[in-house]
Amino acid sequence: MDFAYKTLVVLHFIGLASIIGAFLVQTRASTKRIEPAMWHGALTQLVTGLLLVGLAEMGDADVDNIKIGVKLLVLVAILVLVARGRKKASVPTGVWGAVGGLTVLNVVIAVFW
Ligand code: HEM
Repeated sequence: MDFAYKTLVVLHFIGLASIIGAFLVQTRASTKRIEPAMWHGALTQLVTGLLLVGLAEMGDADVDNIKIGVKLLVLVAILVLVARGRKKASVPTGVWGAVGGLTVLNVVIAVFW
């Protein structure tokens, strides 16, 4: 269980890196786009996040449901932005910024809450 949990945490970090990496490489690009890595990263966060909660509930760890609920809401917002933009040639800079900003917000929630 411990091994499975830690493996999921590693995958959770890879999903995070996937979104933030695809965000950061576009910092200086004049037109922004939703990279496949953002879509796959966001889906990875959803799947690994839910599985982490499931494993934690099965064990004796306490899960903060409000914190998880807020993280889930933030991720749903990311998923909506990414799903709507991923087939487009470019997206407004605000959409690109929101994807990066909301992802960082979830990191801040994960670490500070
Ligand atoms: C963009 C979306 C997300 C980002 C960037 C993110 C980021 C993180 C980070 C950085 C950690 C490590 C915190 C630490 O070890 O101190 C973490 C842990 C965790 N995340 Fe997420 N997360 C996201 C979405 C989610 C979602 C949607 C869920 C649940 C539905 C979730 C559930 C968890 C759980 C249960 C942990 C605890 C792992 C542990 O330290 O035992 N995450 N997340």
